[in-house]
Amino acid sequence: MKHIDLHIQADQPLSRIAPEIYGHFSEHLGTCMYGGIYVGADSPIPNINGVRKDVIDAFRQIRMPVLRWPGGCFADDYHWRDGIGPREQRRKRVSRYWGHITETNAFGTHDFFALCEQIGCEPYLAGNLGSGTVQELSDWIEYITFDGDTDLTELRRKNGREQPWKLKYLGIGNENWGCGGNMRPEYYADEYKRYQSFCESYGDEPLYKIACGANGDDFAWTETLMSAVGNKLMNGLSVHYYTVPSGIWEKKGDCLDFTDAEYYATVSRALYMDTILQRHIAIMDQYDPEGKVGLVVDEWGNWYDPAEGDNPHFLHQQSTMRDGVTAAVNLNLFNRYSKRISMANLAQAVNVLQAILLTEGAGLIKTPTYHVFDLFKGHQGGMLVSADCGDIRTGADGEIQMLSCSASVKDGVLTLTAANCSLDDAAELCISADGFAAAKAEAQVLSADSCRAHNTFDKPDTVQLSALPVTQDGSLLRLTVPPCAVVCVTAYT
Ligand code: AHR
Repeated sequence: MKHIDLHIQADQPLSRIAPEIYGHFSEHLGTCMYGGIYVGADSPIPNINGVRKDVIDAFRQIRMPVLRWPGGCFADDYHWRDGIGPREQRRKRVSRYWGHITETNAFGTHDFFALCEQIGCEPYLAGNLGSGTVQELSDWIEYITFDGDTDLTELRRKNGREQPWKLKYLGIGNENWGCGGNMRPEYYADEYKRYQSFCESYGDEPLYKIACGANGDDFAWTETLMSAVGNKLMNGLSVHYYTVPSGIWEKKGDCLDFTDAEYYATVSRALYMDTILQRHIAIMDQYDPEGKVGLVVDEWGNWYDPAEGDNPHFLHQQSTMRDGVTAAVNLNLFNRYSKRISMANLAQAVNVLQAILLTEGAGLIKTPTYHVFDLFKGHQGGMLVSADCGDIRTGADGEIQMLSCSASVKDGVLTLTAANCSLDDAAELCISADGFAAAKAEAQVLSADSCRAHNTFDKPDTVQLSALPVTQDGSLLRLTVPPCAVVCVTAYT
C-alpha cells in the first residue's frame, strides 16, 4: 500500500473541458458498422431504423457527445453518393483498405445522421481529400445542410429528408500523410486550403473545419500546417496516436496474453501521449497564441495483433483492465490539456481496436474502456482545476507515475478521476481541496482481480463498476484504490 496526498485547487478554474473530448469514432471497417452498429431494419435484433437498440442505449448512457464517421482510411476512398437513395440500388464497392470485402453502402449519410439524432450527439464527418474531389465534398455539405431549393436539396428531400441536418464538425481529409494520399505536409496544406474554400457554412452554425494533423510525434507536420494555414482557415488540427505495446507495428503484442512487463510497457507508451500533446501544443501556441485552433485527437487507443483465426483486416480485439487503465491515463491527459484540445475520438466505438462495445450476433458486452467513459462523464463541460497526484513511481524501473488523475468542477460538483497504474500496490488517497467544502462524497471504482480480466459473452460482468467507500475526515476525503484500477470520486457541497 502506498500513501498519496492528493491536492486539488478547486477554486481556480483553468479551462473548460469540451464534452467532445469524450468523443468516439466509427468506421466502415470489420464489424464496426455492419453487425456492430447497423443490422438492417429487417433484423431480428431489436433496432431503430436498422441501428441496434442496445448500442444506442449504451452510447446514450455514457453521454457520447460526438461520433466521427465514415473513417479513417475508409473515408479517403468514400464517395457519399454511393450511400444515398434506395438501398437496393446502391453501388457496391470494394473496401480498398480493409480486406477487399464488398462495401454495400447500406449504411449511408441519412443513416448516420439518424443515428446521431438517436444518440443525441454531434455528427463529425471525415471528408475525402484523398480520392475524392473538391466538388464532391462541397456537394455533400450542400446536400446535408442547405435549406434552399437546389438539385441537391431536392434529391435529399426525394430521399426522405425534408429539413437540412445540423453539421458542425467537418474533417478535411484523413491521414493524408499515409492512406489519404501519401502527401507531403506542404502539398497537403495547399490542398487543404483549396478544399476548405469550397466548404460553405449554410446552417446557423459555422462549420468547424478540421485539417489532417500529424502521425504521432511528427512535429514537423504540425509546424508546416500551422505556418502555412494558420488560424484563420482552420478551426481544428488533428493528431493520431495509437499505443502499440511493443512499439513495433509488425509484432504489436497480444490483447489478452501479456506479461506484467508488457502491461507496464503499454502504460508507458500510453503516457507518451503526454509528450505528443505537449510538443504539438507548444508549436500551436507559437503560431496561434490566442488559442483559436483546437487540437483534435481524432484517433487514439490501444492496437494489438489480431487473434489467430480472426480476419487480420478487421482489427478486432478483446479489451482488458489494461485497456481500462490506459483509457483513463489518456482521458486524464486530455482533461489536463483541455485549454487546447477541442475534441478526441477513441478508435473505435464497436468491435474494432479499443472498442467500448463488442457484439456477437444479438449479444453485446461492455468493455472495461466503456466503463471508464461512464466513470469520466461528469467531466464533460466541467472546468478543469489543478490536481496534484503525487510523485510515487511504479513499473519495472519506476518510470511510471503510479497515479494518473484530473479534476473538474461543474455546477458545484467536484469530479476527480484517477487510475492506479501499479499492479502490486493499492493507493491510499488522502484528498484535500482548496475552495471546496465537501458535504458529501461518493466513489465508484473499476477494478478486477487481474490486469488481464475482461468481459465475455458468457460472463459479461466480470469487470464492472462498483461503489468504493469514501470516509470524511474533517475537510479530507480518504479512500483506498486497489491496484490496476480506475476510480471516480464525486463530491458535493
Ligand atoms: O482506426 C483504424 C485506422 O487507423 C484508421 O482507418 C486510420 O485512419 C488509422 O491508420
